[in-house]
Amino acid sequence: GRVAVLMGGSAAEREISLRSGNAVYQALISQGIDAVAVDVTGSPIEALAKFEIDRVFNVIHGRGGEDGVLQAVLEVLGLPYTGSGVLASALSMDKLRTKLCWQGMGLATPKWFVLQSEQDVDACIAQLGFPVIVKPAQEGSSIGMSKANDRNELIAALRLAQQYHCDVYAEQWVQGREYTVAILAGEALPAIRLQTPNVFYDFDAKYRANTTQYHCPCGLDAEREQQLQALALKACEGLSVKGWARVDAFIDDNDCVQLIEVNTVPGMTDHSLVPMAAKAAGVNFNELVWRILETSMV
Ligand code: DAL
Ligand code: MG
Repeated sequence: GRVAVLMGGSAAEREISLRSGNAVYQALISQGIDAVAVDVTGSPIEALAKFEIDRVFNVIHGRGGEDGVLQAVLEVLGLPYTGSGVLASALSMDKLRTKLCWQGMGLATPKWFVLQSEQDVDACIAQLGFPVIVKPAQEGSSIGMSKANDRNELIAALRLAQQYHCDVYAEQWVQGREYTVAILAGEALPAIRLQTPNVFYDFDAKYRANTTQYHCPCGLDAEREQQLQALALKACEGLSVKGWARVDAFIDDNDCVQLIEVNTVPGMTDHSLVPMAAKAAGVNFNELVWRILETSMV
């Protein structure tokens, strides 16, 4: 059957998605798979109606592609697709509800405070102190996020984040090391440690800077890495994540794993982390793409 690679979308991560999508499309074509690249700019129903297709490889990041909406459309159309279903997509897209879920499971995630307006700022400071990192609940690639070290910065960070999503929260700054764990077909790939000279692993560090360091092997001893991987799998199970994903986490200075978020449509660009982790496991990009596609067949 023919595979539609859905890419683009109209969310803030559109350009990243086009990069991810083109890489996936090329990988499918080069393996002799009948694939079409579909740049979704408006309604996915209209975009899909233009082609005869049997299956979807979804690489649309962010709202409208990663948040359960597209997944619901595909369910209604009866088209098998890669990645998580409606519930896991919607839950994982929302970092705030993700944290609530993990808290309910007893999994560690940094303390947070919901900021509905500037009136909440003092209560937030009383609860979390400084520094904090302020995030829109639903966004990706660190868009709309900033670190705040004092009251004025907190207000500015809130205003910025509100431009991206109505739900905004401050999260306690984690002092420690940053890791990411890719999940493929129910198994964790080798962890990657991220190190950036920027204030945090922001959009620039993710896609533009050549100063970001990626450590894979990640530097943890085997037992510690396995614990991190097991926790990442648990974190995904709790959200009902399927197929593939990438779990972001820190190990804080008390040696405790702090879960940050799950990406259910992780980046697949040449700078991206899932391909890097796969490579470390001996899985090249073409094979990775094939294995993700395979998860839509079960
Ligand atoms: N949200 C971006 C695409 C990622 O997690 O890789
Ligand atoms: Mg993300």
